[in-house]
Order: sequence, then structure tokens, then C-alpha cells
Amino acid sequence: MPFTADSELDLLFPAAHISDEARKQLHPDLHLRPLASTDYRRGHLSVLSVLTVVTDPGEDAWVAQFHALRAAPRTYYSIVIVDKASDRIVAVGTLFVERKFLRGLGSVGHIEDIAVDKSQQGKKLGLRIIQALTGISENSGCYKTILNCSDSNIPFYQKCGFEKKENEMAKYA
Ligand code: ACO
Repeated sequence: MPFTADSELDLLFPAAHISDEARKQLHPDLHLRPLASTDYRRGHLSVLSVLTVVTDPGEDAWVAQFHALRAAPRTYYSIVIVDKASDRIVAVGTLFVERKFLRGLGSVGHIEDIAVDKSQQGKKLGLRIIQALTGISENSGCYKTILNCSDSNIPFYQKCGFEKKENEMAKYA
């Protein structure tokens, strides 16, 4: 399938929110853009499955979720890296912007669900996703950008400029 240009896609947020810096450093065979409403067909869930258990809800439910995220403007920033030759997604990540009452109604950027297709790991795609999401967070006025990760991923995030702070607590339903 040929590569689909951003102008032909229904995007989650305007592509201009992604800084040129992260884009320019990508290999020319790859393209970084916001999630599109047709990305179910480009292997979005298959890339996410390198991260955790993914249950396929079917395309209609996936598209409904896409529209639910878009209905909360300036809040969900999911991005993808697409391999231009195949028009398939090879890396994904999300920034969630939380608005607070403290710090003068400040906002915090939460980085979530970073995944790079197994065949493409180790080629700096994870780094480019984090750079792009951190850029969106900072340009949105977030006073910090935070994330949770396993011990084994700490060195990766340190290479992306993050430092270890506090602990994560979880209670599963
Ligand atoms: N341990 C040590 N160093 C690492 C690791 C690691 N686990 N992973 C990457 N690095 C280093 C790389 O060697 C590279 O270093 P260099 O600049 O000195 O060459 C640097 O970090 C950047 O690495 P990338 O090539 O950008 O890493 P990649 O594209 O493989 O993405 C990721 C890393 C996202 C962890 C990927 O391997 C992946 O998808 N893993 C499975 C899913 C996962 O664990 N996702 C993160 C969950 S946490 C979250 O979502 C908030």
C-alpha cells in the first residue's frame, strides 16, 4: 500500500503540534505524525502488543475510541511513526495532558504506551517518539513531563533525558 500523506488523513490533532526537530532526525523512509482514524488498518494494535496484552475490539470500536479521545481537545496526543514503503505503523506513543488546580492551574504531561515494533527496535525510533511527545508537552505549557516504566527501561528513559523520581503505586481491579 502506498504511503498516505497527512493531508489525506483524519488526524487526532493538528500535525503542526509535532516539532520539526524530532521529524527531521528520522530516516527519510519513515514519517512521524498524529494518530489517524484509519490507523487500525495500519497495524496500530499490533505495534502496541509488544508492550502488553492487546485485545482487538474490532475496527468500529477502535474508531469510536479515536473519536472519544478527539472529543477532549488539547488532552490526548497519540503519535505514530509510519514506514513509508509499506504504510504500516512501526512505533507509537501517547502524551496525556492533565490540567490541575495547583501551580497556578498548571498542567502535567503524562507519557504513556510507548512501543516500537520488534523488528525496528534499537534504531532510535523510541527516542524520536519521546522527543516529539516531550516537545508537545513543553509547548502545551506543562511544567513537567512524567511516565512510569519497568526497571529494565530506566536506562532508555535516562538516555531520553529523564531522571528517576519517587515510586509508582498500582492497584489493579
Ligand atoms: N536498556 C538500556 N538501554 C536502552 C534500552 C534498554 N532497555 N532500550 C534502549 N536503550 C538505549 C539504546 O541503546 C539507545 O542508546 P544510544 O543512544 O547510546 O545508542 C537509546 O536508549 C535510545 O534507544 P532507541 O533505539 O530509541 O530505543 P527503541 O527504539 O528500541 O525504543 C523501547 C525503546 C520503547 C523501550 C522499545 O524497545 C520497546 O518498544 N520495548 C517494548 C515495549 C516497552 O517496554 N515500552 C516502554 C514502556 S514504558 C511506557 O510506555 C511509559
